[in-house]
Amino acid sequence: MNDTKSKPVLLSGIQPSGNLMIGNYIGALKNWVRLQDEYECLFVLVDMHAITVRQKPADLRSRCFDFIALYLACGIDPKKSTVFVQSHVPSHAELMWVLNCFTYMGELNRMTQFKDKSKRHEENVNAGLFTYPVLMAADILLYQADLVPVGADQKQHLELTRDIAERFNNEFGETFRVPEPYIPPVGARVMSLQDPTAKMSKSDVNPRNYIGLLDPPDVARNKIKRAVTDSGAEVAYDESRPGITNLVSIHSAISGDSYEVITDRYAGKGYAQFKEDLAEIVVEFLKPVQERYNDIRSSKSDLEQLLNDGAEHAFRRGRKTMSKVYRKIGFIQRGR
Ligand code: TYM
Repeated sequence: MNDTKSKPVLLSGIQPSGNLMIGNYIGALKNWVRLQDEYECLFVLVDMHAITVRQKPADLRSRCFDFIALYLACGIDPKKSTVFVQSHVPSHAELMWVLNCFTYMGELNRMTQFKDKSKRHEENVNAGLFTYPVLMAADILLYQADLVPVGADQKQHLELTRDIAERFNNEFGETFRVPEPYIPPVGARVMSLQDPTAKMSKSDVNPRNYIGLLDPPDVARNKIKRAVTDSGAEVAYDESRPGITNLVSIHSAISGDSYEVITDRYAGKGYAQFKEDLAEIVVEFLKPVQERYNDIRSSKSDLEQLLNDGAEHAFRRGRKTMSKVYRKIGFIQRGR
């Protein structure tokens, strides 16, 4: 690990649920990679968050390795950044308990993700689903993070994190850094391919709604070609036409071209040519990611070693915050 003590701290995480997809890349991972040199980065795989929805244990286990390998394949460099699994660092749960006592039921009741998920999982509206945002606040505040790059769907959780930090600081004096979200200007909310009024989700039961980072080229091509577009014919960036607008923003996020450049290029050309070109851009982007992934995923022992090192480093960093918090709230120190 480089000595990066003077750099500001960046933390972000992804739940190992479903299939990592292009929306996660565009909304989060892409910026993690880009910001690695400027920040001291901690990238956590939040397995404890994932069990708020029932998971098959064997699938969860292998998916954790898949996701970590994909972090690296997308460009996270473990020599620069700390990569670890949430359940390997018990301080996340410890800090969460303290923060639970500084969070109001009314605040959690307002969280839109809780409302959405409890509708989708009516058979299992558990307490973990309700207090999920407090665990997320603990993930962030434990490491005194300055910046948290996420997609737009996490904005409300970030605001709650800031409120909890400020509340604690007001009562006990400066304890937590109050983090800033980083929500990208392009692609903060990539929409579903079949229903562009809904968010693209890695846990969607219909895989045609998202492009998985591990989708084979033909599968990705077909999903783009069959993506729902609107009744118009012009390639446009226009909120009243969410289907084509979503595809233009995916193009822009992957190619780096602005909306104007893209829409000008396709003036008078119609959807078919645009979709064909977009499919090739996406496939060309996925190819090297998948090659690196296959290589990295094949060595489980290297991944385990990397996660051990990451957890150790994260634990040491987090412990400083934990002792400060316990001291401030009046817990006595354990004798030697
Ligand atoms: P999760 O696992 O749902 O998503 C991981 C990241 O991907 C972003 N994202 C999207 N961005 C653009 N368009 C989309 N359609 C899209 N779908 C997902 C998410 O905003 C997120 O950045 N609660 C978090 C995980 C978490 C976390 C944290 C994040 C737990 N602790 C601490 C940051 C810091 C979540 O469920 O993300």
